[in-house]
Amino acid sequence: MLINSNLILEKALKEGYAVPSYNINNLEWTKFILEACNEDRSPVILAVSPSAIDYFGGYKTVSSLVKNMINELNIKIPVVLHLDHATTFEECKMAIDSGFTSVMIDASSKEIEENIDITNLVIDYAKKHNVSVEAELGNLNEKEGLYSLANLQECKDFVIATGVNSLAPCVGNKHGIYKQDDNIDFELLGSICKEVKIPLVLHGASGLDENKLKTAIFCGVSKVNINTDLQLTWATAVRKYLEYDKEVYDPRKIIKSGEFALKKLVHEKNNVLGSKNKI
Ligand code: G3H
Ligand code: ZN
Repeated sequence: MLINSNLILEKALKEGYAVPSYNINNLEWTKFILEACNEDRSPVILAVSPSAIDYFGGYKTVSSLVKNMINELNIKIPVVLHLDHATTFEECKMAIDSGFTSVMIDASSKEIEENIDITNLVIDYAKKHNVSVEAELGNLNEKEGLYSLANLQECKDFVIATGVNSLAPCVGNKHGIYKQDDNIDFELLGSICKEVKIPLVLHGASGLDENKLKTAIFCGVSKVNINTDLQLTWATAVRKYLEYDKEVYDPRKIIKSGEFALKKLVHEKNNVLGSKNKI
């Protein structure tokens, strides 16, 4: 069942667990993640970045792939098809028009007033199509030197000014591989949650240990975004397989050789986030 993220995130916030958001990078990952979460009876958010959409071959390709897979694999859990880190209204519109059920408008590199305006534009369009909207405050973009923590008052004002469904504040979290320098400000996270009273999203959850993930959920996080951990785990398994079988050339065998490790990690993460058996 393909739905927007509102009900499942509100339920998670109320009951004190988090819904996993896994980035899908190809057809096989989509299948592995859906099957693992279905087995766990865990709701799941399939996140697709604009660059992954290009890789897949377009918004409609992704949307029809996910919809057909849910039907043909007989997936019974709630699934959200989510556009991750879109920076423009046009990208969000394309996703919504193509059947995505959730979008993230990440205008966090803009001034707060402009972020509010773009977010409102997206919300206006999304609401008409029953699509949920996530926004970001502070900035996780380290590459362009824009990294900054979210400001508590701004979070409060932003949620009032937009009525956004979920908020991803930068609280010391980082994308990619943490190099022992992850420094989550749980106090800030907890204060934001108390003030805004909507589901919070933790980006860059790869590399964070069980204790940190559970503390983040305790502080009010209801959606946890994981990508790099899956990539590292899958790539390690595939490398081992290629070492073991130097003759293999069937791409199905090569890509599938990462299935067991990837599914095992999804089960482990679902366990830590507390999303198992919530359906
Ligand atoms: O939006 C995607 C996530 O924030 C993934 O971050 O690759 O560090 O797990 P990660
Ligand atoms: Zn992210």
